[in-house]
Amino acid sequence: MFQTDLLKGKRILITGGGTGLGYSMGQRYLELGAELVICGRRTEVLAEAKAKLEAETGGKVETHGCDIRDAAAIEQMLDAIWAVRAPDVLVNNAAGNFIARSEELSPRAVDAVLNIVLHGSAYATLGCGRRWLAQGHKATVLSIITTYAWTGSAYVVPSAMAKAGVLAMTRSLAVEWGGRGIRLNAIAPGPFPTPGAWERLVPRADMAETFGTKNPLGRVGNHRELADLASFLVSDGSGYINGEVVTIDGGEWLMGAGQFNFLNALTDEDWQALKPKKKS
Ligand code: HXC
Ligand code: NAP
Repeated sequence: MFQTDLLKGKRILITGGGTGLGYSMGQRYLELGAELVICGRRTEVLAEAKAKLEAETGGKVETHGCDIRDAAAIEQMLDAIWAVRAPDVLVNNAAGNFIARSEELSPRAVDAVLNIVLHGSAYATLGCGRRWLAQGHKATVLSIITTYAWTGSAYVVPSAMAKAGVLAMTRSLAVEWGGRGIRLNAIAPGPFPTPGAWERLVPRADMAETFGTKNPLGRVGNHRELADLASFLVSDGSGYINGEVVTIDGGEWLMGAGQFNFLNALTDEDWQALKPKKKS
């Protein structure tokens, strides 16, 4: 899909890059010539991901154990990353989520999600932005949100609140920083199976298949499809896209919204019967 040197020379930091979609984006970035930095809380997961990614792609991966809820820890990590070389891209990918009836959420449960998704993404973005602006370094931020950042969703309310906040941050800073060489965009994925998401968000085994039935394409997303979009959006070729959010959900949220979308269930015979009768 791309020239193999699309991201050559770029140094890219992905939060939560040791697992799931973060791993898949990192793998594609390496294939396209980038140098990768990944962070997460579990250093053993990062070490395993580094070994696997380097073996798969021949690229270079730097890892940092860092809890993005801790602003001081992020600052320390960014100092260490900048000491090697300033990154050119930040991908806000790390997240926390679970399903629950909202009236049963404790304050700590609300904070657990907001602290990772909203505060963590803000600390990382502001920490990188401050450094980039001071150096006049051109850069880009890509945040992985969800389609329910604008529709909202029952049973994942803290996540919906946090992702909506990350979207607001993206659009606000796209204007505040765009003129100084920093553009910010977001991707809103529909369902892309990962162990991290599925073990927390699939309530019963018989519901796992449901995710693939809620869009007109009748399937879930492939990681490569998301990784290619994420590559385009951080590449120089997308340099005029700023403050945008690109949905990649097979049409899922629109299918839930359109008044007459339920007519997908009609058969050919139903449609034939609805045609006006020819006047004789
Ligand atoms: C109700 C819960 C809960 C649950 C935790 N809590 N899980 N409450 N239902 N299922 C409550 C706990 O009881 C506790 O409150 C508080 O939350 C903090 O719990 P901890 O286990 O101490 O939290 P912590 O160790 O900080 O872990 C954070 C986490 C965990 C979010 C709870 O799941 C995590 O580490 N997640 C990271 C990865 C992840 O979530 N990936 C999925 C991303 S998918 P009390 O009051 O009891 O002390 C995604 C979008 C998917 O974001 C969209 C799909 C289409
Ligand atoms: P995942 O594999 O569980 O990824 C979450 C990552 O975030 C993990 O690597 C985790 O590593 C890291 N993380 C969590 N808390 C952290 C913290 N406090 N500090 C640093 N890192 C932290 O889930 P995923 O499905 O790939 O999700 C990736 C992104 O896509 C998320 O933003 C999610 O909201 C979004 N998304 C996913 C889907 C989907 O269908 N999968 C759909 C829409 C949006 P540690 O636990 O080691 O810290």
